[in-house]
Amino acid sequence: MNTANFIPNILEYSLEKATYKWQTPSNIALVKYWGKSNPQIPKNASISFTLNNCHTTTQIEFVKIEPTKTPLFELFFEGKKKDDFKPKIATFFDRIKDYCPYLLQYKMVIHSENSFPHSSGIASSASGMSAIAMCLINLEKDLTANTNEDYLKQKASFLSRLGSGSASRSIEGPLVVWGKHDEIEGSSDLYGVKFPYEIAPIFKDFQDTILLVDKGEKQVSSTVGHNLMIGHPYAENRFKQANDNLSILSKILQEGTIEEFIKLVESEALTLHAMMLTSHPYFILMKPKTLEIINEIWMYRAATKSNVCFTLDAGANVHLLYPKKEKEAINLFIQEKLLRYCQNNQSINDYSGLGGSKI
Ligand code: DP6
Repeated sequence: MNTANFIPNILEYSLEKATYKWQTPSNIALVKYWGKSNPQIPKNASISFTLNNCHTTTQIEFVKIEPTKTPLFELFFEGKKKDDFKPKIATFFDRIKDYCPYLLQYKMVIHSENSFPHSSGIASSASGMSAIAMCLINLEKDLTANTNEDYLKQKASFLSRLGSGSASRSIEGPLVVWGKHDEIEGSSDLYGVKFPYEIAPIFKDFQDTILLVDKGEKQVSSTVGHNLMIGHPYAENRFKQANDNLSILSKILQEGTIEEFIKLVESEALTLHAMMLTSHPYFILMKPKTLEIINEIWMYRAATKSNVCFTLDAGANVHLLYPKKEKEAINLFIQEKLLRYCQNNQSINDYSGLGGSKI
């Protein structure tokens, strides 16, 4: 599949006005994407659990206008005009306008809101960009005769990727791979694909409790972060390691070897942070409380033989991952030992979900 396949044929129908509303989730990577080349091509393949409760809901009203040279839009976030988010979305529209020529024929009014608290340190670009992409794909579906759901999902992921790489993994669920990988059938650098193999029961309905350690603005934007891998002394080995880890994780997910899962997932999280610790400029994105939580998890696991483990994003919050059957015990552990390290004792309970849905 090459990019030309995503340029639509003639628009069969004409619509003066249309409104679509979509909800798409955030996701949490198990093998991390960190390092990319133009245009939004990952240096290694990654895999994530799609979340269920952490999502963005976006409505776009399209009103037909005389064709313009650049996409015209207004943006409201949680009911208020939000001009400071506009440049990122303008760049997104600019990158995708060749694949969505109808963008230049409509004025768009975008209303967006997140289910999770704003500036909770949870990356909203994955859910935000994928929700916009789903609205555009819905318009495309109504303007063209193309009703091939597989193609439309693939294109939605392709467009999302051009907004934010990790957003390509938010269209479907529960597990999505993005990035070409020899052992994952159908995988591509251009879009995410559902993990194509049957997973062991222990990984079904996997739980993710997000411990909100630091709700501040991101210290390093993802653009700056990915750029730190250019010329990084460990970059090439890291990219190879991530692809090797995906091979190993693919087997783990199918075979249900949870002890191996824990080792691989925690190592991936710490490696992501190791890349930041060893870049120029260097960053420490964990906070003392992040480390306290990690220690608590390790002590709890040693004492109880629980299968809980952690992963991290490019920030201080901790994602606690565990099988559904341990939910009750882990909730108790969170209440008793972990909430004290969270800002305002806040956490968010989530679990693996199935991707976007129309509202
Ligand atoms: C650490 O997808 O936010 O969360 O493509 O520049 O928008 P851009 O980056 P982004 O990077 C996500 C990095 C990560 C790891 C991951 O989700 O795989």
